[in-house]
Amino acid sequence: MIRDVRNEFLHATITSKTPVFGSFPDGTVRSFNSARCHRAHSGEKSRGHMLSGKLPRAGVVSNNMFEHAPVMLNEILEVFSGLTTGTFLDATLGGAGHAQAVLEAHPDIKFVGIDRDQQALAFAQSRLSPLGERVTLRHARFDRVAEVLEQTNTHSLAGALFDLGVSSPQLDQGERGFSYRLEAPLDMRMDQSQSLSALQVVNESSMEHLAQILRENADERFAGRIAKAIVLARPLNTTVELAEVVIAAIPAAARRRGGHPAKRTFQAIRIEVNHELAVLPVALSGVITALAPGARLAVLTYHSGEDRITKSIMRQAETGGCTCPANLSCVCGRQALVRRVRTSKTPSDAEQTLNRRSTAARLRVIERLETGIGS
Ligand SMILES: C[S@@+](CC[C@H](N)C(=O)[O-])C[C@H]1O[C@@H](n2cnc3c(N)ncnc32)[C@H](O)[C@@H]1O
Repeated sequence: MIRDVRNEFLHATITSKTPVFGSFPDGTVRSFNSARCHRAHSGEKSRGHMLSGKLPRAGVVSNNMFEHAPVMLNEILEVFSGLTTGTFLDATLGGAGHAQAVLEAHPDIKFVGIDRDQQALAFAQSRLSPLGERVTLRHARFDRVAEVLEQTNTHSLAGALFDLGVSSPQLDQGERGFSYRLEAPLDMRMDQSQSLSALQVVNESSMEHLAQILRENADERFAGRIAKAIVLARPLNTTVELAEVVIAAIPAAARRRGGHPAKRTFQAIRIEVNHELAVLPVALSGVITALAPGARLAVLTYHSGEDRITKSIMRQAETGGCTCPANLSCVCGRQALVRRVRTSKTPSDAEQTLNRRSTAARLRVIERLETGIGS
């Protein structure tokens, strides 16, 4: 049974008697696993596929099962508008919203899609199955991209996309343990075959390590206080138990500002469980190396940690590691691999209104130089 704890933190006393939702005011009972159910409770409007009139239909599997609105879809299609042939890589396939739109816009390209979440992959497989042999999907973590490209006989890439972070179903399906709003065992694994889960991170990390995770992965101001409170309250088994400890550890005045008080702690622990920041540099560097001349890499980031890493890896490829003063000609011989592509960096106001999960998105794009040598 999943308990919905939205906004409980606003109450002065935290109680364990929060009502469990079973049915809707109209009398219908719906699955707690459905993203639509989550939105109906929260009063959010359907994010559906409203952002592009010609967005893809879902395949055999119903969209209700994996509802994730692709962020900045029109901007992504614009970035890749020059695609003609070759292979496109989607390193974070998710519900295949971006993937299907890119494939439909470019009927001559082939496609390799990666996701570490088996559920996302199964949905994407079904959705993209009408596209037949153009599509190859792999269950993999994206830092294994070189291996995946080798296995799929992909010698170079015509374009690549990373849409980082979590998908809506990962957050909305309470039992996956990503959400501080829905009671479930502490889990947060994107790849459910992985052994490390939030249960171990929360219950077995030292206080110092917990504080470091909170600071480095989520810029949490109250990292030390929260880490201490977690250690004193252990063992913690569920999302709600963790959220309650975090809420109590944060000063009352701060609790009322800046969204749910447990949001940053959950983000930080999720990043730790899935090694999100650790695997990103390897994956981005591997993909930059595989880009064909003229090919583009687009990265959508959702928090400062992943944006910093993306910016730094792209910057390194832009300079080739050259640190010669800008006002002097280069003497070190290091050469640029890519150029930065100027594009709108954040979702439009309209998209942010329609899809509140898009608000933190930031788009960065680079293009491999024609010759691969410095300009
Ligand atoms: C924001 S969603 C992508 C949504 C997708 N663009 C769409 O249109 O539906 C991010 C996806 O990336 C996957 N993911 C995150 N980190 C990953 C990694 N290191 N390796 C492979 N997949 C990853 C997640 O499991 C999730 O399904």
